[in-house]
Amino acid sequence: MFHISCFMFHVSCFTFYVSGWGFTFHASRFMIMVDLMQKIVSLCKRRGFIFPNSEIYGGFGSGYDFGPLGVELKNNIKQAWHSEMLTGKDNMVGLDSAILMSSKVWQASGHLTAGFADELVECKKCHKRFRLDEIVNFKSQVPRMRSRLPVGLHSKQIPNSKFKIQNFKCPDCGGELTKPRKFNLMMKTFVGPVEDEASATYLRAETCQGIYVNFENIINSMRLKLPFGVAQIGKAFRNEITPGNFIYRTREFEQMEMQWFCSPSASRTTLINADSNADKRGWTPDDWFDYWKNKRMDWYLKLGIRKENLRFREVPEKELAHYAKRAVDIEYKFPFGWKEIEGIHNRGDWDLSNHSKYSNQDLKYEGSYPYIIETSGGADRSLLAFLVDAYQEIKGGRTKTTEAKKEVEVLLKLHRKLAPVKVALLPLVKNKPELVKKAKEVYKLLKPHFLTQYDEVDSIGRRYRRMDEVGCPFAITVDFETLKQEDVTLRDRDTMLQKRVKIKDLPKVLEKKLKE
Ligand code: GAP
Repeated sequence: MFHISCFMFHVSCFTFYVSGWGFTFHASRFMIMVDLMQKIVSLCKRRGFIFPNSEIYGGFGSGYDFGPLGVELKNNIKQAWHSEMLTGKDNMVGLDSAILMSSKVWQASGHLTAGFADELVECKKCHKRFRLDEIVNFKSQVPRMRSRLPVGLHSKQIPNSKFKIQNFKCPDCGGELTKPRKFNLMMKTFVGPVEDEASATYLRAETCQGIYVNFENIINSMRLKLPFGVAQIGKAFRNEITPGNFIYRTREFEQMEMQWFCSPSASRTTLINADSNADKRGWTPDDWFDYWKNKRMDWYLKLGIRKENLRFREVPEKELAHYAKRAVDIEYKFPFGWKEIEGIHNRGDWDLSNHSKYSNQDLKYEGSYPYIIETSGGADRSLLAFLVDAYQEIKGGRTKTTEAKKEVEVLLKLHRKLAPVKVALLPLVKNKPELVKKAKEVYKLLKPHFLTQYDEVDSIGRRYRRMDEVGCPFAITVDFETLKQEDVTLRDRDTMLQKRVKIKDLPKVLEKKLKE
């Protein structure tokens, strides 16, 4: 076993693979993946995007904290989702429901009783635990399985009659593995001072249940008619057996979910519009499914993710989650493989009919249970996809100075809407008080409008590169001309072109450019 920084490389009895920060995969691609992910993880920590949780105590549960720039980036992603879903929509409303709910919610939803469990195997030698599908996929003996085993699918039903756990070994030490057993992913907690079953409940595992239990309240208070949608962003928790791939799979994460309630049959759909200019009379749940699936894909594309790095994956029936009639994943091509970042689900009447049954409240609408088309994305996973997609290295640098030529320049080509810092304010040099004074004046002018960072340390070239590395789209330099002409240079991150702009025009010019 040999170590490189935070990653560990192991040679096991049957193949060569890597793990560390939770990455696990095959040798052929490992150097590229480790290298790129390691650079992104390191950039995230160095520049204040993402820190390991409870680091001074050695870390905690593969959790992460979003640092000053990470929180801005994540908020910008959530804001972009919120406005995409809600702004200008006639029949879409928002909700912010509680994380802690009655435990009955989770009985009704099927998360306690049905399939919200992974199959777990443990190494008898090193006692490390793995999800069964990780072990199985690892040896490529069965087709790829979804992250979650669907209801009722267990090792006996894995579509390979030759499956035997004895044929698999611990990927870490090559030890023998235990028989698979179910492991429920709900995080249990107790409400109030007594820790008994009556006070037990669970941290929500998906945000949408808060929407279903408020179905009646929302319809009544907002006087909505089918079809309509409810959009919500919030934390969710799952006791993942193997969190990993940096922030890709964590135990605490944020979801951006929209639930579209529509008539189960086309004939009774009297629709209106999801977009203000669309007329979709008579649409079936299947039509809405396709509509939302394409809308969601467009959102990632609009925010700059390259088309070749995104794809749909129709989830095979045997892999469907317990509530789903149909599911399509939007997958992103991460350095560690194609992985789900969002799921589009046709949940049929599973949720409303079950909540009716368990609560004894009639949640029918005009005599039948509406169908639910759900778009369920992860704020953390999409943030990772946006970061990976934006990350570029330019060997020798883009600038022609000898200093730059020696280095690899990092450019984070984040969409302007998502970039955490919008403007950098840089006096040409820091030892000229009149330049510093003017630069601070311009900084004060812009700060109330845009997230602006003032930086006077190091050469101007280095400062540009520092801002490129965090994806800041615009850098303003205050130079000697500024003192005479009341103008500054405005540098574009992507083209590196600089043009002079009058100080008084800066707020307007920047506002326009940031909307482009
Ligand atoms: N309400 C449906 C639902 O929760 P899901 O496919 O289990 O569906 C939806 O999760 C999205 O939530 C995923 O596509 C992913 O972006 C995010 N997500 C799920 N589990 C996660 C985890 N352990 N860590 C980070 N994000 C996760």
